Amino acid sequence: MKIGISKISFFVPKYYLSLATLAEARGADPLKYTNGLLQNKMAVAPINQDIVSMAANAASNILTEEDKKDIDLVLFATESGIDHSKAAATNLAQLLNLKSEIRAIELKQACYSATIALYFAKGHILQNPNSKVLVVGSDIARYGLETDGEPTQGAGAVAMLITKKPKILVLENTYAFNTSNIYDFWRPVTMDYALVDGHFSNEQYKAFFKTTFEKYQEKSGLTLADFKAMTFHIPYTKIGLRSLQTIAKLSTHPELFKNFEYSTTYNKEVGNIYTGSLYLSLISLLENGKLKSKDRIGMFSYGSGAVAEFFSGILVPGYKKHLVKDIHKQILKNRQKLTFNAYAKMLTDIPKNDVLVEYEDDQTFQLVEISDYERKYMKKA
Ligand code: HMG
Repeated sequence: MKIGISKISFFVPKYYLSLATLAEARGADPLKYTNGLLQNKMAVAPINQDIVSMAANAASNILTEEDKKDIDLVLFATESGIDHSKAAATNLAQLLNLKSEIRAIELKQACYSATIALYFAKGHILQNPNSKVLVVGSDIARYGLETDGEPTQGAGAVAMLITKKPKILVLENTYAFNTSNIYDFWRPVTMDYALVDGHFSNEQYKAFFKTTFEKYQEKSGLTLADFKAMTFHIPYTKIGLRSLQTIAKLSTHPELFKNFEYSTTYNKEVGNIYTGSLYLSLISLLENGKLKSKDRIGMFSYGSGAVAEFFSGILVPGYKKHLVKDIHKQILKNRQKLTFNAYAKMLTDIPKNDVLVEYEDDQTFQLVEISDYERKYMKKA
């Protein structure tokens, strides 16, 4: 049975910081960010957008009433959890008006967990061929003011509907994976901001890519020539490019480099969205690139700590018809640029108990209140 992605969409908050503004405030050369990291902007979440509201906004871009009836499993991937016990998937299921006869769970392993969610979704559909699975990756990447990681922050969510006979991408059955207990990036439970050993994390990312891609080739019998595009987890664009350069040369594989550009067009404008980052890159490739049906896309997922996986998908004939490019263009176009001071306030304004949040006048799902540690959300009718 062919199983894979039938629908896919992202949501990002409506505020961003230009990395040129950040460079000016930090006395850094702006070229370090735009050419050194290959990033232009980063999305910043206001107090009324958390992982649940962003996931609801991404999912509501794609789900029909019929999908909602057929979904019986919600897999919520995040490393920005809002509760140690209760899964954000339960809040999400209610906001989306899903039926109660579903399973809803949250998954954690840094930026990797949306990838295992896809694998679990496949297993579920193999046993229940008529069901549909909603997979979301939703995160707010915060390193804090004046930290090394500051230019690599971001916020956003990706939602995917996984079904049999997929309309966009068939997930192939070869997976190469690797786990090692390292401290390259982590966030202890009492901390609002991540800890990171930046240069060590870069080295680990590249080493895991080498190991998993070699293993994938050994297991599948495929080689680089079998791929039309390679997509990566994109904490910042340069690391994806540097990883691609370890397996391909621009002179011999120009198509892979052109497709890498398409696959990072959105990421450059959004920054790191952790669990959703690889899938934002996939959306960017599909919506901006010129791939044809039956083309194979490689996907490298990395979650610090660390678990990595290389896997692949084959494009379905007519896949373009099932993308929601116009919605995404609109989301990016409608964003507002922040001044440096507004960014600094928004980044540090993390919702705590007993807050009432001013509702913003637009159509998106928003967090409006936390009282007695219960979160309430609203969407304007
Ligand atoms: P840094 O020390 O600020 O920057 O750290 P750098 O000195 O390493 O320079 C970065 C690049 O800019 C280099 O390019 C420089 O040459 C260039 P490269 O050599 O790599 O091609 N550069 C310039 N270019 C033009 N003009 C200039 C200039 N100056 C320098 N004037 C770092 C950068 C990314 C380490 C830091 O921002 C950081 O710690 N970020 C957070 C950690 C991170 O993103 N790690 C990535 C791998 S781990 C991962 O992906 C997992 C993660 O998503 C978490 C999860 O899994 O949940 C993070």
